[in-house]
Amino acid sequence: MTADLPTLLRRDHAEFHRELTLLLDPSATVADLQDGLDGLRLGLIAHAEAEDIVLGPIETSPRLVDAIREVRSSHLAQEKALATLVATRPGTDAWRVHAHYLREIVGFHARHEQAQLMPALRDHAPTFPSLAGLFATERLRQLGMLVPSQPILLPPELRADRDRFAQGSGQFERSEML
Ligand SMILES: [Fe+2]
Ligand SMILES: [Fe+2]
Repeated sequence: MTADLPTLLRRDHAEFHRELTLLLDPSATVADLQDGLDGLRLGLIAHAEAEDIVLGPIETSPRLVDAIREVRSSHLAQEKALATLVATRPGTDAWRVHAHYLREIVGFHARHEQAQLMPALRDHAPTFPSLAGLFATERLRQLGMLVPSQPILLPPELRADRDRFAQGSGQFERSEML
């Protein structure tokens, strides 16, 4: 059974924080930083895209329009900050400034989603119970469309989700790598 939406989002947000903290590790090698950035890039883009797509049908609801507009503008800010980080040489001072900034805005956004968006969805979105399943499916679809700059190892829980998805639709091969 799919966990509820707040739990799924909290899990991803914690993973992004962990990955961004690794990118700030001064002892990490350039190869570690590039690997870490690639995993973060795919996860963050797939997560935000899935949120935007799942929220699309309910974004005009008067009680939800402000919270969803805030989510969209935060996603755009994260996209810009991520692009800046991707264009920065790993391990430099500039890299750490950009990685730190991205960690701050992702963290702020995660807290906003839990404190503002989730209660609003629970109270005003009749489709709230089905949003978790829609999000999980859409995130996997997005992941399947994104191209990593080099093969990456999926975290076990994502591999399990992806294999469950594959058994359902047969879209993805069963393997360790994307
Ligand atoms: Fe999120
Ligand atoms: Fe978000």
